[in-house]
Amino acid sequence: MKKTTLSVIPGDGIGKEIVPATLKILDTLAEIDGGIQFEYNQYPWSCEYYLEHGVMMPDDGMTKLQQSDAIYLGAVGNPKLVPDHISLWGLLIKIRRECEQVINIRPAQYIKGVKSPLAEPNDFNFLVVRENSEGEYSEVGGRIHSGSDEIAIQNAVFTRNATERTMRYAFELANKRNGQLTSATKSNGIVHSMPFWDQVFQELAGEYPDIKTQSNHIDALAAFLVSKPDQFDVIVASNLFGDILTDLGAAVMGSIGIAPAANINLNGKYPSMFEPVHGSAPDIIGQGIANPIGQLWTAKMMLDHLGLEELGGLLFRAIKETIAEGIKTKDLGGTSTMNEVINHIHAKIKSY
Ligand code: NAD
Ligand code: IPM
Ligand code: MN
Repeated sequence: MKKTTLSVIPGDGIGKEIVPATLKILDTLAEIDGGIQFEYNQYPWSCEYYLEHGVMMPDDGMTKLQQSDAIYLGAVGNPKLVPDHISLWGLLIKIRRECEQVINIRPAQYIKGVKSPLAEPNDFNFLVVRENSEGEYSEVGGRIHSGSDEIAIQNAVFTRNATERTMRYAFELANKRNGQLTSATKSNGIVHSMPFWDQVFQELAGEYPDIKTQSNHIDALAAFLVSKPDQFDVIVASNLFGDILTDLGAAVMGSIGIAPAANINLNGKYPSMFEPVHGSAPDIIGQGIANPIGQLWTAKMMLDHLGLEELGGLLFRAIKETIAEGIKTKDLGGTSTMNEVINHIHAKIKSY
């Protein structure tokens, strides 16, 4: 029996409701496999933990995480208790950086039974490869002067190393998919980082002559993802552009509540982390209506990453069948509760 250790961080808000409730699905999948067993190390790191301890995670927290095979996270943030820049930089972004999870993969695809806001969504299936370690999310800058003279300066940092590895990852993915790659740029308005971004993209395009490439300005690309999402395959984007495009992708699918994400460590030194695109949804806490599909699709990505593609496939099949049968939460136009959706998916997997 192979033991796989998962660090489980429910986090804040609906993360606390969804994450623990999904573990029984992972257990059942492990039973079906017969050869593996998940061991969960659950950590209560959250904004409430911060109020008690003055930190988002203990000193030895990162070492504990780094010893696990993967990290399964819900959401972080409760701005009523702790300012977001403290909670996010103290936990989510800290883990992404210290576990060197340099790539964030975020798929968006048409799911039968999910009502897209688009009149004719067609069968879109695109995937955003988001740079996950630098770019616009930088600590370089500061605030100077005060009063009406006050200035806040935020410098974006684009290294060749990170830009190139993100793009290379995207080219390789495009190679395995439809052979089409779009770069999200803004070199018409951002005069240093984005011309550099374009240059690296063109250099790599030379190494991948079989990949059909295009560059779109981020503003136009945002519009295209609404007007013709089926025209896109892999999209490579900087940290902030990728963040925005993937909430857009979630909305085009039909709800932010179903969008998954994977923070990938490429060098094998540390675990990767799996957390949905959505946040802690403070506006629906305690109502039992949070959509668990984003978290479960994220779990599917985690299973695939751990080499358990067959189990990932079973989970995805159960997710899709459950939606197609109309077992849906309120955000998808249904009346089911979070627990009803989870129980239905669980029962389906047991019946396979
Ligand atoms: P959010 O994603 O939490 O919520 C946006 C809207 O989507 C809300 O109306 C919410 O009710 C809805 N929603 C989100 N997930 C849902 C689900 N699973 N089912 C049904 N409805 C869902 O974004 P926000 O309001 O901007 O952020 C809230 C907090 O979460 C903030 O503290 C923010 O910083 C944090 N956040 C964390 C992460 C993360 O941990 N990965 C991601 C985004 C936001
Ligand atoms: C996400 C979130 C985070 C990000 C925030 C909460 C820092 O929006 O994972 O998409 O911007 O990366
Ligand atoms: Mn986001």
